[in-house]
Parts: sequence; C-alpha cells; structure tokens
Amino acid sequence: MSVILQVSSLVKRFGALTAVNDVSFSIRQGSCFGLLGPNGAGKTTTIEMMEGIKTPDSGTILYRGEALGQQFRNEAGIMFQTTALQEFITVREIMVQFSRFYPDTYGIDELAERYALGEFLNQDTRKLSGGQKQRLLLAMALINKPKIMFLDEPTTGLDPQSRRNLWKQVQQVKEEGATILLTTHYMEEAYELCDEIAIMDHGRIIAHDAPDALLAAHFDDVVLQIQAADIPREIGEREFQAIYHNDSAHIVTGDVNETIEHLLRFDIPLDHLRIRARNLEDLFLELTGKELRG
Ligand SMILES: Nc1ncnc2c1ncn2[C@@H]1O[C@H](COP(=O)(O)OP(=O)(O)OP(=O)(O)O)[C@@H](O)[C@H]1O
Ligand SMILES: [Mg+2]
Repeated sequence: MSVILQVSSLVKRFGALTAVNDVSFSIRQGSCFGLLGPNGAGKTTTIEMMEGIKTPDSGTILYRGEALGQQFRNEAGIMFQTTALQEFITVREIMVQFSRFYPDTYGIDELAERYALGEFLNQDTRKLSGGQKQRLLLAMALINKPKIMFLDEPTTGLDPQSRRNLWKQVQQVKEEGATILLTTHYMEEAYELCDEIAIMDHGRIIAHDAPDALLAAHFDDVVLQIQAADIPREIGEREFQAIYHNDSAHIVTGDVNETIEHLLRFDIPLDHLRIRARNLEDLFLELTGKELRG
C-alpha cells in the first residue's frame, strides 16, 4: 500500500513547552492509524498540524507527496476533539452550511439516514444530547466524501452501544477506501480499529507498530487472575508477586505450568482461575507509567 500522508521531524512549541518533539511517521493509504497517549501527550497538537490548522515550528507534512494544499482541503474530513456548534440553527441548516465549503458532497438526507440523524434534522443544535452531537459531527466530517479522515477522540462520552455503532461506521468508511487517523483513550477501540498505532508521551513517539506486533515485542507472559478470597494476600504477594485489585489477585507469569504447580503446592483452589493475554492497556501502562485517563 502506498503512503498517503507523511510526517517528518514535526516540532511544535508553546513557549517553554515542546508539545510535539520530533515526531515522524507515515500513514498507508486505506489504513487506520491510531495515535494514543496520556492527557497532554501531544496528540491533538500533532493531528491539528496534520490538518493544516496549526503551523509546525519545524518539520514537514506531505499529502500524496505534496505540501498541504487545496487538494488536501477538499479530500480531508475532520472531527475535532471539541467543536462548538453554531447555535439557534437546525441540524439540517448546519449541514447545508458546512457542505457549501466543498465542491463535491453527499446529500444531507442521505447522510442523515446513514447516521440516524433523520429525527433531529429540524431540531436546534443546542437540543442534541452528547451522543447525538457526536453523530452529527461524524456526519459533518463525512460530508465532503473524504479520502482521509481525522477523528480526535470520536467516541469519548458515548455509551457502549453508541461507541460500537461508531466503530461500525468507521469500519464502513474504511472499507469504502478512506484512510483514517484516530486518537483515542480506549485501548479496545484502538485494537479493534487500527492497523497501526503510535504511542506518544511528552511529545514523542515511544512505540509504533501493528497492535499485535507491539504486544508480541513487549510481552512474553500472561496474567493469571484468581479470586482474592482464594489466595491469602501474604502468600500471594510473597510467593507470586501477586497484585491485588478489587476482588482479584493478578499474577504475571511467563511459565503457566510452573506457576500452576506452585499454586497447587499451596492448595490454592483454581476453580475461578482465568488466564488472559496481555493487551494494549498493559502496554500503555508499561510504556507511559500512567493509568489510562490518569
Ligand atoms: N494553544 C496552546 N497553548 C499552550 N499550550 C498548549 C496549547 N495547546 C496545547 N498545549 C499544551 O500542549 C500539550 C499537548 O497538548 P495536546 O492537546 O496536544 O495533548 P493531547 O495528547 O491531545 O491530550 P488529551 O488526551 O488530553 O486530549 C499539553 O501540555 C497542553 O497543555
Ligand atoms: Mg487531545
């Protein structure tokens, strides 16, 4: 697959703070690229430079091999992390207004049907719930039939059902050939949607690869979860370096057979034993040392 967007040695400073510090990566056409990282890592600043909204202090951004220009503006769809919708106008009016910026757009009714906005079309934008507003913003980002989409935390604040619906919509847009750049704090979302992820911290990319490749490179162990009531804390911590969390004891091991034999020597009941593979949440924690959203 060819590269559609390439970022090289991007730097952005705000006074003494270097918010984006020498960031480079490229996005393959038709793929979904995820930018992850704790609050303040520099994701939005990076994405806004790529959108052409913020000017980098140094570094280059190439879209289809050229500097960002009119073609990019026509082909890019943007969903900001926060958007103030114009008030005192209806959903339909705002969509019509927005579509006037572009030469080639979807019809409003077509989009409204696809994103289940039909019943809100004539409602004032102030009366939308958080999730309805999010759906409207996604529909607006799609109005110009974008070839590349920027989605900055598209599912923050959505209920689980709406989040999964938005995943489906993103997947559909991708199947239709669009390239997607996404930021998220939901590791499950990144795993589900992204072909590649880059983890940022303090303005730098600290890891970048396909999700499974990153997991394979960082972990060769699994987590055994046992009911805390089944394994006395004193034994768990001393013998297994278990970490107790809520009602579970978590034991990380690279040798499951050996650990289970060890548990049996202490007569630990294993009826409620669960084994889970390491996931992106573990990786995030290990690399950034920060709890999600912390
Ligand atoms: N306009 C600005 N002026 C000064 N500092 C800014 C500005 N915009 C961002 N920053 C700072 O730059 C850093 C990176 O911010 P950015 O919004 O890119 O983070 P983020 O990774 O998107 O975080 P979040 O997950 O909270 O959205 C933060 O320390 C932030 O305070
Ligand atoms: Mg942000």
